[in-house]
Amino acid sequence: MDSAKNRIGRFYGIGTGPGDPGLLTLKGAERLRKVNVIFAAAARDKKSFAGGVIDALGGCSAQRISLPFTMAKVMADREQQWISNARTIVTELEKGHDCAFVTIGDPLLYSTYSYLLREIVALLPKVEIETIPGIMAFQDLISRFNLPTVEDRESLLITPAWGRDQNFSAKLKQADTVVLMKTSAFRSELMSELDEAGFDGELLYGAQLGQEREDLRRGATAIKEAPDEYLSMVIAKRRAERQPVNMKRESRDE
Ligand SMILES: C[S@@+](CC[C@H](N)C(=O)[O-])C[C@H]1O[C@@H](n2cnc3c(N)ncnc32)[C@H](O)[C@@H]1O
Repeated sequence: MDSAKNRIGRFYGIGTGPGDPGLLTLKGAERLRKVNVIFAAAARDKKSFAGGVIDALGGCSAQRISLPFTMAKVMADREQQWISNARTIVTELEKGHDCAFVTIGDPLLYSTYSYLLREIVALLPKVEIETIPGIMAFQDLISRFNLPTVEDRESLLITPAWGRDQNFSAKLKQADTVVLMKTSAFRSELMSELDEAGFDGELLYGAQLGQEREDLRRGATAIKEAPDEYLSMVIAKRRAERQPVNMKRESRDE
C-alpha cells in the first residue's frame, strides 16, 4: 500500500489578526500560502474579516471553504454545527490535504477554533495540529492610543460584556485594566458599571478595527453615542499612580 496515499493532512489554526492585513504574522502568511485548503467561518454580514485578510495576502492558491456557524441559544444546536464542520474538515484531512482554519484575532481567545479543534481531535485522534497565534483585537485597539495595557503590578481582565452575573462588578473592581469584548448592545450599562467600579482613567472604544468602517472613540460620552456593532470592544483603565522618581522598584518590566 502506498504510504503517501494514507497520509493524513496537518491541521493548522491560524489567527489573522483583527482585520488589517499588515497585522497577520509572517508565520501565518507563510503557512497560508502552503496549505491545500483554507476554512473560515461564513461571515455574518457579506464580508468575512479573516477571509478579507487572506484576499489581501496574495500567493494563496488553496481551495477556500466557508463553514456555517450558528449562534443558536440552544447549546446542543451549536454542538451539532461544530461536529458537522469538523466532519467537513476531517474529510479533507483524510484525503492528505493540509488544512487551515482561520480566525479573526487569535485562534485561542473567544474563538470558534477551540470548539472545532475538540471535535476534530475526537474524530481523528492521530491528526497533527499546529496553532499559529494572531494579534488580538484588543492589542490593536490599545496600540492606536499608544497606551500601556498594564504596567508593573497592574492586573488585566479580559471578559465578554454579555451574560454578566452578580460577580461581574466584583471582578471589575479587582482589575486595573479591563478589556470588554462583544459590547454592542450593552455599552451604556457598561459605562455606568465601569464608573461604579472606579475606572477613572481611560475609556477606549474600537469597532471594525482595520476596516473601512473603523470607529475609534475615547471617553464615556463619545462611546455611549456609538451605533451598535458586533465587532466592537471597550478598554477601561484606572488612572495610573505615578511612581516617585527615587522609588526602589522590586520588579522591572522588560
Ligand atoms: C468571537 S470574539 C473573537 C476575538 C478574537 N479571537 C481576538 O483575538 O481578538 C469577537 C469579538 O472580538 C472583538 N473583535 C474582534 N475583531 C475586532 C475588530 N476588528 N474590531 C473590533 N472588535 C473586534 C469584538 O469584541 C468582537 O465582539
